[in-house]
Amino acid sequence: MSAPPPIAMLAELTHRCPLSCPYCSNPLEMVRAKEELPTEVWVDVFAQAAALGVLQVHLSGGEPASRRDLEALVGAARKAGLYTNLITSGIGLTPLRLDALEAAGLDHIQLSMQGTRPDLADWIGGYRGGFERKIAVAREIGRRGIPLTLNAVMHRHNLDDLDATIALALDLGARRIEVACVQFHGWAVANRAQLLPTREQTEMVKRKVAAARAEYEGVMAFDFVPPDYYSDYPKACMGGWGSAGLNVTPNGTVLPCHAAETIPHLRFEKVTDRPLAEIWYESAAFNAYRGTDWLPEPCAGCERKEIDFGGCRCQAMALAGDASATDPICAKSPHRARVLAALEEVSDAPFTYRKLG
Ligand code: SF4
Ligand code: FES
Repeated sequence: MSAPPPIAMLAELTHRCPLSCPYCSNPLEMVRAKEELPTEVWVDVFAQAAALGVLQVHLSGGEPASRRDLEALVGAARKAGLYTNLITSGIGLTPLRLDALEAAGLDHIQLSMQGTRPDLADWIGGYRGGFERKIAVAREIGRRGIPLTLNAVMHRHNLDDLDATIALALDLGARRIEVACVQFHGWAVANRAQLLPTREQTEMVKRKVAAARAEYEGVMAFDFVPPDYYSDYPKACMGGWGSAGLNVTPNGTVLPCHAAETIPHLRFEKVTDRPLAEIWYESAAFNAYRGTDWLPEPCAGCERKEIDFGGCRCQAMALAGDASATDPICAKSPHRARVLAALEEVSDAPFTYRKLG
């Protein structure tokens, strides 16, 4: 099957992280430090990605600053002609490291925000003192004028702080805020009953983001990821499977999305075994759900199939036990009852914090 070249690559440099957020999108079985790709392989991956047509690399983790060679990797990605975005908790980004990252040509930082107060943020992130350190890093980023996006992951425990979150982003000089309601992949599945927002919060966040978008037009841009369990239709996850982006995990496994390894029958290849372009264009896993020809009913006969491509394959796997089923978020899905049942499973049990083995 023919496919356009990918635009973006998520490079998960490491799964190591000082924080333990209970909604982390990393898999439950994470890659250990000794299995991570060495510097020279990442450098080659960036060059291959640029040759394939990738324009932007999102350097992520875990916490990418846990890699001592982060500055060298940013420099290599820039040298390959890629726009470099660092997705970070900020922990580990000392002024000296920021100096080196700037010198390496880093284009943009996306800083995660767990909450607007130390008690809330440190509880959610599972890291005492993290909030104060993060704010200090954010101020340092602002002082240097590095373009900043605040990535606010929102859920039942912090959605009522939305106004304060927006105010904090403005105060930190962010050019963009991503109000990202938790998507249930990775560790978030294990904590779904603790994290699911209420219907009232869902309505409130949609209303407030729309109003704030108008109010701060030209000052700060808003990206919004709504909580989809209350939606009637799913999102076009990744813009469609294998259509716009790819992920490379810390050990070099190439995936169409961050949760794809939860689909047990697919075999994902490594950059150390096969060129990136061949994996993108030819691998069975990338071709498994491309386009719309594979879609089951009711998607096959639905007028929205070119809009959402049947929704998210990993969500279909998690909720229906079948990656090729209509995403159960969809009101037309025969598995919709599983979403409605999940909405009833509210719990105040302690979080299962992300941990590396
Ligand atoms: Fe999308 Fe399929 Fe639902 Fe139609 S039936 S809206 S294509 S998920
Ligand atoms: Fe894998 Fe949506 S997260 S297809």
